[in-house]
Amino acid sequence: MALEFRSLQYRVGDRPLFDELELRLPVGESVAVMGPSGSGKSTLISCALGLVKPQGAVQVAGVDITSMRRKDLARHRGAHTGVVFQFGELLPELTPVENVALAGLLAGASRRDAYVDAETLLAELGVPAADRATGTLSGGERQRTAVARALINKPALLLADEPTGALDDVNRNSVADLLFQVPGRWDCGLLVVTHDEQVANRADRVLHLAEGRLRTRSGA
Ligand SMILES: Nc1ncnc2c1ncn2[C@@H]1O[C@H](COP(=O)(O)OP(=O)(O)OP(=O)(O)O)[C@@H](O)[C@H]1O
Ligand SMILES: [Mg+2]
Repeated sequence: MALEFRSLQYRVGDRPLFDELELRLPVGESVAVMGPSGSGKSTLISCALGLVKPQGAVQVAGVDITSMRRKDLARHRGAHTGVVFQFGELLPELTPVENVALAGLLAGASRRDAYVDAETLLAELGVPAADRATGTLSGGERQRTAVARALINKPALLLADEPTGALDDVNRNSVADLLFQVPGRWDCGLLVVTHDEQVANRADRVLHLAEGRLRTRSGA
């Protein structure tokens, strides 16, 4: 299992955000989570990253992360989890290869491996191999670079929070095409949070976060 939430309980102030929330996401599968602004979608991503500590169990790549110490958590996250945000959150002065290789270096890869892997992955994901600052790329190219950075350490789990939220229609479609190929091509589970129904509908399952739980469209 790439990700498992069991009986999550979490409050912000006196408001319950998660109430016995459950999710099982196997490797090779994608799930989209939709829900109104403020319903807790980004907080759910933070739980999977171990940045927010709810009650209940959070398992990533088969290991419970809720009771892990900070250092172990950081190591586990680096080895098993990739994440893509709305604006890519890349370093704009570095080239795409440097941005992606950096994530490999931080996880302990040798300089040579990190750069070779970064170049291969970027080529596979269709980012032009131009030697220029990431800040000068188009929004779509930046998001592809962000996906490459998230995949460089071969994670079991890929998390994406509004990955197409800042893109026009053409780029939204090409980034969504790419994202939903990831579970099959790179053997991981994909959790995408999105407000975009067309993007969500490409996932194997669409769940709605409401009243602290994830429900299927029928409300079952
Ligand atoms: N550290 C915090 N302290 C207090 N409240 C918080 C904290 N983190 C999140 N919240 C609140 O929890 C709720 C859920 O926030 P979250 O960002 O997860 O929503 P979201 O579903 O991602 O919304 P959006 O669609 O706008 O991105 C919000 O009301 C937010 O203000
Ligand atoms: Mg959010």
